[in-house]
Amino acid sequence: MQGTVRTGPWWKRGVIYQIYPRSFMDSNQDGIGDIQGVIAKLDYLNDGSENSLGIDAIWISPIYKSPMKDFGYDISDYTDIDVIFGSKAEFIQLLGEAHKRNIKVIMDLVINHTSDVHPWFIESRKSKNNPKRDWYIWHEDKGKKPNNWVASFEMKNAWWFDENTKEFYLGTFTRHQPELNWRNPELKKAVYNMIRYWLDLGVDGFRMDVVNWYIKDDQFRNNPWRLSLNPIAVQRHLYDRNRPETHEICREIRAITDQYEDRMLVGEIYTNETREAVSYHGKENDELHMAFNFSFLFQKWCAKGFYNNILEYYHALPADAWPNFTLSNHDQPRHYYRYRDGKYTDARAKVAAALLMTLRGTPFIYYGEEIGMTCERIARKDIQDPLGKKGWPFIRGRDAERTPMQWDASPYAGFSTVRPWLPVNSDYKHKNVSTQSKEKNSLLAFYKALIWLRKRNNALSLGDIEFMEKDPKEVLIYKRKYGDEEVTVVLNFSKRQQRLQIDTAGKEKTLFGTHRSKGEEIFLNQLALYPYEVLIAGSLN
Ligand code: GLC
Ligand code: CA
Repeated sequence: MQGTVRTGPWWKRGVIYQIYPRSFMDSNQDGIGDIQGVIAKLDYLNDGSENSLGIDAIWISPIYKSPMKDFGYDISDYTDIDVIFGSKAEFIQLLGEAHKRNIKVIMDLVINHTSDVHPWFIESRKSKNNPKRDWYIWHEDKGKKPNNWVASFEMKNAWWFDENTKEFYLGTFTRHQPELNWRNPELKKAVYNMIRYWLDLGVDGFRMDVVNWYIKDDQFRNNPWRLSLNPIAVQRHLYDRNRPETHEICREIRAITDQYEDRMLVGEIYTNETREAVSYHGKENDELHMAFNFSFLFQKWCAKGFYNNILEYYHALPADAWPNFTLSNHDQPRHYYRYRDGKYTDARAKVAAALLMTLRGTPFIYYGEEIGMTCERIARKDIQDPLGKKGWPFIRGRDAERTPMQWDASPYAGFSTVRPWLPVNSDYKHKNVSTQSKEKNSLLAFYKALIWLRKRNNALSLGDIEFMEKDPKEVLIYKRKYGDEEVTVVLNFSKRQQRLQIDTAGKEKTLFGTHRSKGEEIFLNQLALYPYEVLIAGSLN
């Protein structure tokens, strides 16, 4: 059952854990998480034993030098670490400490735009004939804005007037994030050198920020408008996103990455079109190793909905492309909150975790989801996110999913001894790592068990997937197969008992689950599932 043969690169086999560094662990008591904080918690993430979470890689949201107008997604020096987080030496120490524990380290690569105080932009805005003028996207002033593109975090036109040279520059997030001109060969060269710099240092890959925004229409045509309350969705982004030339850049970055051993690129394709996102794997699998699949972020709690969602994604993936799944990240409300249902919330979180960890595809975990961190309303005065600071009635920004990690029951949840940059969730006294580490049935214990089971089991990590029930109502049941290893996963999405609608008489034994003990024999066609039961079983042969 549990073979030892393991093939396939680490990013296919492994589980990737996203750290939002401002909120993970504060080591120097300034209320903001930092690199030493991450180092201090590496053993929690994976010390090689099943007492630890067991993740295989961390993706750290940006820690480069930044004025923090968008909390690091506005970089002012691509090859330095911001003092808030530590120093270059400390980052190198983190790499070493992580690698000692077989944890890969992925950095965030934010190359669609820089900060407006990046020296490149300072140069670029000096004069129209500055050598770096063309490194950004400038447009002459013809008495009105060049076109109708919108800055998502400002809900205003994305062209910003520069008094000095009397031209507009493009910034489609905030005005403080001018867009780089990816049609300029010098700019490309500079960014590619920077990528090599981090790969040379030993970084294991990159999470690439807003990949599909790199290239803009060369004629700057208007986007068609559409009705939506979501600022990102008020236009059809025909001309400021997904331009065909973007794929060429992806291929070039992939070619650089391939010169190094065992590195990985995963890209954020901000879209709700699955087809658009998966196109960044490349027709020949020569672009990104993975394009983030965000479809679960918008999936309601419904077995059938998940089923259709998963199949649509698998079918859309190009041949040989490797899938991935995400339930939560730093830009969307946490799934523990989205899927809340009173006393059943924890049970649902377990079903969701089991789904994430047993589907064919790399799971991404967002820090805190393993203890069921939720989203609470952030008081107006405490709002930090530029998106929330605007004061629009329906948009409060992304702070609620970025609150400090809840380590223990001490003041500020053990994250810091001083008031953190964002408030700690009010439930931290009972919901924290320390408490859940002692409870056998906690969500944390559940995540650990699942991750280690997946690690030992080739079928779960690398195997093919086949859904056994083709018209599911409340239960998903699927098989994972790798060579002669085979595992069956059964997930009850409802608060009621359910019987399976399958005719396989398969006698199997329980490997793991919420209601049955390991080794218990079951017959698939006779199973009466408990409410929200998770059951992972294997054939007896
Ligand atoms: C991506 C990031 C988001 C950031 C934006 C601008 O969407 O995930 O957090 O604000 O890009 O860089
Ligand atoms: Ca700190």
